[in-house]
Amino acid sequence: MPALQSPTVLNPAIENYMGGLLNHFDNTVLIEMELLAQKNNFPIVGRLVGVFLETLAKMINAKRVFEFGSGYGYSAYWFARAVGPSGQVHCSEADFLNKDRAEGYLSAVDLWDRIDFKAGMAQAIFNQTDGLFDICYNDVDKGDYPEIWLLAKDRIRPGGLYIADNVLWRGRVAAKQSADVFPGWTEAIREHNQLIFNDPDFDTFINPTRDGVIVARRKTD
Ligand SMILES: C[S@@+](CC[C@H](N)C(=O)[O-])C[C@H]1O[C@@H](n2cnc3c(N)ncnc32)[C@H](O)[C@@H]1O
Repeated sequence: MPALQSPTVLNPAIENYMGGLLNHFDNTVLIEMELLAQKNNFPIVGRLVGVFLETLAKMINAKRVFEFGSGYGYSAYWFARAVGPSGQVHCSEADFLNKDRAEGYLSAVDLWDRIDFKAGMAQAIFNQTDGLFDICYNDVDKGDYPEIWLLAKDRIRPGGLYIADNVLWRGRVAAKQSADVFPGWTEAIREHNQLIFNDPDFDTFINPTRDGVIVARRKTD
């Protein structure tokens, strides 16, 4: 199995241990997608978070998922497994080449017919897609995180989930001072996290696996 993607905030030995529990996921296409991420240093969520996404989606019987920032379909692979043949995963991705890559990989595992993949800005694609979602999953450029939360939160059905990756940003959110890779991203993630935790309509927690995954459930009453 390829090494897991690791901008981890966990103790690396613990993350390796947890990853080792997932060796039975030996699908060739999945492994190819992970190897491509390693080769190109492309930030897929990795297997530990992938399994977490699939499990969350199954727990709420999700059938309709919107992804902001789909890359070449790795996170969508896990959501597509969860929603089943009658479900749909709406993918949005700025890089047009990634759409072709996603189609290749997800067709090879018979999941492409559950995917509606649009290339372009996620915000615009979301606004052109009607209805409520069981899950809105955010993994775009981090400076846009507050905007995506504000767009998505009213389009999640009661009992549905908002999920975002990288919310601990390699620990920078907790550092008094830290060099930002992109100016303003740490502050944007902090603002995003605070907005969600302050929202009385959602129950929220952060799973610190890998780079931190926020999960906010829209209340039903
Ligand atoms: C972290 S990667 C996504 C990885 C993917 N979720 C996975 O785990 O397989 C972020 C992706 O979002 C895309 N992206 C960033 N900002 C975007 C935006 N505003 N709209 C659409 N795509 C965006 C980038 O091109 C990149 O492919």
